[in-house]
Amino acid sequence: MNKIPKHVGIIMDGNGRWATEQGLKRSAGHKEGGKTLEKLAKHAKNLGIKILSVYAFSTDNFKRSKEEVDYLMNLLIYYFNEKLETICKEGIKVVFSGRREPLRKDVLMAMDSIVKKTKDNKECILNICLNYGGQEEIVDAIVKVHEDITAGKIDKNELNRENFFKYLYQDLPPIDLLIRTGREHRLSNFMLYQSYYAEIYFTDTYFPDFLEKEFDEAIDYYENRDRRFGNVK
Ligand code: IPE
Ligand code: IPE
Ligand code: MG
Repeated sequence: MNKIPKHVGIIMDGNGRWATEQGLKRSAGHKEGGKTLEKLAKHAKNLGIKILSVYAFSTDNFKRSKEEVDYLMNLLIYYFNEKLETICKEGIKVVFSGRREPLRKDVLMAMDSIVKKTKDNKECILNICLNYGGQEEIVDAIVKVHEDITAGKIDKNELNRENFFKYLYQDLPPIDLLIRTGREHRLSNFMLYQSYYAEIYFTDTYFPDFLEKEFDEAIDYYENRDRRFGNVK
């Protein structure tokens, strides 16, 4: 059996369908999804998971209506400001992955503020992927690598698959368990580099309904996988 995963990723999908299937506006699903994330972050910490990476908003989600994008951005600001005390009480350190452009100034300010206020928290890391794209992350990392090679900080022959991690948005270990809620079986540009040997758990459950009990089922699934990393037993 595998030990509890160190790094869990969640593609929090299905908020919109959760709402529309009940005759509600999509925004109601996002609001409920926020509550679910709050519960799962605490739960993951209590289970001893050290890093939780969550997909909150992709670079491609900017294709959605202005109304939906604005609602999501305001909801994020609300969480960063209003839940700060709870986050600190739980000892959670918040970090972000993604591009800053074209996020709104008030969103950036709320992000910077929560990062600063939680930077010394030691229990676990909540990595919020916001305006995030996995391909963008690799492209941005290559630009940083090029800068370091040009500045003589690293020789091109020294670069390898392990030290490339430090050029990503956050220098985190690889994802052990990747969960996608909401019925789709795809990555949608989430943490492509870090998921290279991730065990993947798909569930039809929409994210707002993905509560502690089902999270535990995903952990059980992970613990029973035979992780070979290309080797033979
Ligand atoms: C995931 O839920 C949250 C975000 C992408 C911001 P969706 O909004 O994608 O919900 P569905 O997939 O349309 O149901
Ligand atoms: C992925 O979900 C992005 C987030 C969960 C934030 P999407 O709903 O955007 O993905 P697709 O469009 O179904 O692939
Ligand atoms: Mg979706």
